[in-house]
Amino acid sequence: MIISIYGPAGSGKSTVARLIAKRLNFKYIETGSMYRAVAWKVQQSKLDPQDEEKVAEVARTIAIEFQPGPERQKVMVDGQDLTPVLQTETIGQLAAIVAANKGVREVLVAQQQKMGQNDNVVMDGRDIGTVVFPDADKKFFMVADQEERAHRRHAEIKVNHPEIKFEKILEQLQQRDSDDENRKVSPLVPAADSIRLDTTGMKIQNVVAQMIEEIGPVHS
Ligand code: C5P
Repeated sequence: MIISIYGPAGSGKSTVARLIAKRLNFKYIETGSMYRAVAWKVQQSKLDPQDEEKVAEVARTIAIEFQPGPERQKVMVDGQDLTPVLQTETIGQLAAIVAANKGVREVLVAQQQKMGQNDNVVMDGRDIGTVVFPDADKKFFMVADQEERAHRRHAEIKVNHPEIKFEKILEQLQQRDSDDENRKVSPLVPAADSIRLDTTGMKIQNVVAQMIEEIGPVHS
């Protein structure tokens, strides 16, 4: 069974995806981390993020693996635990640039499809309901007011980076929304058969409860 959860940055998708996966005992795959991992390596290798061929080559050769962690799962990149490093908004912005690269998407989408082949999975990202698993058993498109999304993002990032100001996060989120919605390859759009959830002002546990009800009985 595949449950796809997709939507813009800060819509709450990774938090609810994690909780739903735990509740249903499904595997959780956070595809944003994969674009972030490629972005990190592009940065480390001092490559021009707009160099389509070299950046696609990074995606073809990088080894990304998810491992269970105490709180959230660990993202291992070429054998190194990069979980906190990948969470910065600088990496998020760079991820939005490399995510517009057709070659990068081909590689990562194929890996994501493979990860969901023989398992019960909850997968979150931008194109999960449209490109990666258009026939997923359940598709949720999550949205929320932009300021609220920036506040959520700020609260998350502040834990490791207390110096970062809310205004900066809001500005970066506006930029990332615009990049994700307007790119030529797999732009962020809802599929017609998705269930749209506006999480503005909603408590996480209520969002999760609503989704669990929509999913209905699960036979694993
Ligand atoms: O979800 P997260 O903020 O970690 O994603 C980082 C960036 O990766 C997004 O802004 C988006 O550009 C890209 N992404 C994507 N497709 C996905 C997941 C993430 O294009 N399935």
